[in-house]
Amino acid sequence: MEEKVIVCDKLTKRFGYFIATNEISFEVNKGEIFGFLGANGAGKTTAMRMLCGLSAPTSGSATIAGYDVYSETEKIKRNIGYMSQKFSLYENLTVLENVEFFGGIYGLTDQEIKEKTEELASKLGLKSEMKKLVGSLPLGWKQKLSFSVAVLHEPKIVFLDEPTGGVDPVTRRQFWDLIYEAADRRITVFVTTHYMDEAEYCNRISIMVDGRIEVLDTPANLKKQFQANSMDEVFYQLARSAKRADS
Ligand SMILES: Nc1ncnc2c1ncn2[C@@H]1O[C@H](COP(=O)(O)OP(=O)(O)OP(=O)(O)O)[C@@H](O)[C@H]1O
Ligand SMILES: [Mg+2]
Repeated sequence: MEEKVIVCDKLTKRFGYFIATNEISFEVNKGEIFGFLGANGAGKTTAMRMLCGLSAPTSGSATIAGYDVYSETEKIKRNIGYMSQKFSLYENLTVLENVEFFGGIYGLTDQEIKEKTEELASKLGLKSEMKKLVGSLPLGWKQKLSFSVAVLHEPKIVFLDEPTGGVDPVTRRQFWDLIYEAADRRITVFVTTHYMDEAEYCNRISIMVDGRIEVLDTPANLKKQFQANSMDEVFYQLARSAKRADS
């Protein structure tokens, strides 16, 4: 049996009377690349923050790497990496200083940090940029660096909230090479994106509409279900049927 690293049952978050995440239920297997899709405001970031132990749910349950999102948030944080939608590195520190800082936070030894720094510099082709301020790097490099830092401590799961927003297509492909490498190392990847080509790269995807998960399956099965040629079309049809149900 596949090991489940995320198990989520009727997880809900209210802000006052507004329900941002509405009884979402799903499971994610170890080593899986799980795409978490939905239009702006659908509730993705809200859900992801609950799964990362950063925001307490209103109701429902979830375990992350076996730890409870209500009572074991510290253990969750030690077992995951998180790349937030808002850029998460320090722009006024150099690349090297960022790696050292986060390595320290994740509890790596000085020797491990040194090895990881060298590995990261050569993998990302950043050897001559290590002493530059992160703020001076192009966005695509910042994103790749941010991802590499999020998996520096080889977490069980990495949560990526629109990691490639605003980045050119070639850099996005390079970014996905990094994601696949992490998945090869059995790191589970939970990723939100608005790019439908990226949705196709996922093993399974869910699509949220107004706080609820409306569909969840492999990209191939979803296209079959909606008799669609592309994920774009699946997304569009789903949005249209949701609007009709509203009126
Ligand atoms: N702290 C908060 N207080 C009140 N409402 C909030 C709060 N955080 C989020 N919301 C609302 O919850 C809804 C879902 O927001 P969320 O950020 O989760 O969406 P999203 O799917 O991540 O969207 P995007 O694709 O634009 O990032 C939005 O209507 C948002 O305004
Ligand atoms: Mg968001």
